[in-house]
Amino acid sequence: MITRETIDNIISAVKIEEVVGDFISLRRRGVNLLGLCPFHNEKTPSFTVSPVKGIYKCFGCGKAGNAVGFIMEHEHLNYPEALRYLAKKYQIEIGEEEQTPEQMQEISEKESLFNLNEFARKYFSSVLFDTEEGKAVGLAYFREREIREDIIKKFQLGFSPGTWNGFAEHAIQEGYKKDLLLKTGLALEKDGKLYDRFHSRVIFPIHSASGRTLGFGGRILTSDKNRPKYVNSPESEIYNKSKTLYGIYFARTAIARTDNCYLVEGYTDVISLHQAGIENVVASSGTSLTADQVRMIQRYTSNITILYDGDPAGIKASFRGIDMVLEQGLNVKIVLFPDNEDPDSFARKNHPAETEKFITGNAVNFISFKTRLLLDETKNDPVKKAGLIKDIVASISLIPDAITRTLFIRECADMMNVPEQILVNELNKIRRNRLNRELQGQGGADDIPVPEMIAPPQPETETDNSSAESQEKEILRLLLLYGTEVVHIDQTDENNDKVKVPVIVADYMVHDIRRDELEFDNKVYAVMFEEYRAGLDMDQVPERSFFLGHEEKEIAYATVDLIFTPYELSENWLKHNVMIDMEEDRLIVRLDYALLSFKARKIDRLLEDLHKKLQSNDSVEDVIMVQTKFRDLKAKSIQIHKKLNRIVIR
Ligand code: CTP
Ligand code: MN
Repeated sequence: MITRETIDNIISAVKIEEVVGDFISLRRRGVNLLGLCPFHNEKTPSFTVSPVKGIYKCFGCGKAGNAVGFIMEHEHLNYPEALRYLAKKYQIEIGEEEQTPEQMQEISEKESLFNLNEFARKYFSSVLFDTEEGKAVGLAYFREREIREDIIKKFQLGFSPGTWNGFAEHAIQEGYKKDLLLKTGLALEKDGKLYDRFHSRVIFPIHSASGRTLGFGGRILTSDKNRPKYVNSPESEIYNKSKTLYGIYFARTAIARTDNCYLVEGYTDVISLHQAGIENVVASSGTSLTADQVRMIQRYTSNITILYDGDPAGIKASFRGIDMVLEQGLNVKIVLFPDNEDPDSFARKNHPAETEKFITGNAVNFISFKTRLLLDETKNDPVKKAGLIKDIVASISLIPDAITRTLFIRECADMMNVPEQILVNELNKIRRNRLNRELQGQGGADDIPVPEMIAPPQPETETDNSSAESQEKEILRLLLLYGTEVVHIDQTDENNDKVKVPVIVADYMVHDIRRDELEFDNKVYAVMFEEYRAGLDMDQVPERSFFLGHEEKEIAYATVDLIFTPYELSENWLKHNVMIDMEEDRLIVRLDYALLSFKARKIDRLLEDLHKKLQSNDSVEDVIMVQTKFRDLKAKSIQIHKKLNRIVIR
């Protein structure tokens, strides 16, 4: 048991921004810090840290808490484990009350697996450095590969001896339970006997982003074709291969600093590049990237450069995987190494500066790379070329950012020597189909029903359209669909020149409504609007997904309703109002129209109220006051209606 006093010491020492900052790159945004949420998949940052309040909150997924909570959530630790983690970080000595045997047993299983791995890591390291076999075989091997001693130490490399159960025996002697040895996979059981997983192999410990040992990779030293080149720890409660990137612990600060992540294939590529001073590098360990791994990289940067060795066939096979990376909003570049070279061999043959120069000099963006590679194969065959266009545009269509999409369309049209419009048409077709599919799929995943989606569009009635409800609805609908986008609105500067000023749509709308102190009649909309207001106060626009997954079911339902109002799904909607490709000017017009309609309606209602008041027999002073107010409002109302009439919705 950790004493109360220690807990207090820890709580008062921690700085939330430092604790979070170890895992995510944060940027300052006013009094807060902002980054990509580690708990859900997002492309624009909504993860907000308030150093003053000592808390974090994600306006995308709603997760929130203090530093201890963050560590519990992020590192999958329980409360005392999280406290221990923070105590270590801030070098606070832990005052601990005596533990009973029962409490000893309660130390979580994960923690014991980590402990055993730590024990194994030290064992392999001491075998490498302190035994004759280790020195003669293991160290000699690293020397032959020209891996420096400081790099061996940094990556905590080791060696497993040629005995059959040397490690298992040693671990049992030191009090580690058989059950744990099997669970970490460090030992295997056969006929009631324990055997080591790793024999006569150099050992690469695999670390988590916070530096804990999750498992090991062991490389064979001979070129024996009958034995696997690498033996790796099996999946366990603490090691999930698809959520791990080799080298992330050593690379993360460099990735954040350089705002780029190099991706290589293997352990040795990571190590050799480090030795050449290139530290922002991780390995997917021989498989194609998973979404979880991409998300991990995304905590530090949105730029990834894939370093390829190998032949066109192998590279082509990886294209599909890269589409997933594009879809996550990352910028992908490709570097192709010369024949028969991988990053490891290249870095060994060349001076560090040359290696760096080669990589930066040869990085091509993925779309251009793919276009070039496939174009070389079409040899002007028109059928093949049509297929190529579809293929490339499909990749481009996955890029979330509209401007980037446009640039690539232009570049590819140039490269392929076809009119841009052909690509644009294809792009629109793909995006429209996808949007339709997404709209239909929405309800299924979450338990939110979408009855309106399938039902035939209801005819709009006059009253429906002019009711206060429908104007409030339109405001929320626009916030949900476009709230996080940026528009450029006209303003006049001090010289009376017209300038375009960028504003976030939510900011524009919320500000406008608050200026006139108008309120929502509909309770649910009022709460949602308040979420926007609170979010903006923290410099953050809540995402659609936040409302879709809102803990208050009423809000989640209303959100679905708002996004999929029946008449919006008419053909018109697809033709004129597709959110992703709506022209900016038209969007601004729609925003203004919605805001003005909302205001007009509210003000006219206030006028009605005042009018009634004027009929009553109040004191002269009261009447005069009401009259003045009435006149002001009336003027405002006329002005708004005039503006409204001028707006033509295209
Ligand atoms: N790998 C594996 N099991 C294998 C082969 C490969 O797990 N039998 C994984 C390892 O993570 C390895 C990566 O795939 O690091 C890349 O494989 P490869 O290029 O063959 O290995 P290198 O790490 O480059 O090793 P070396 O340079 O020593 O050949
Ligand atoms: Mn290699």
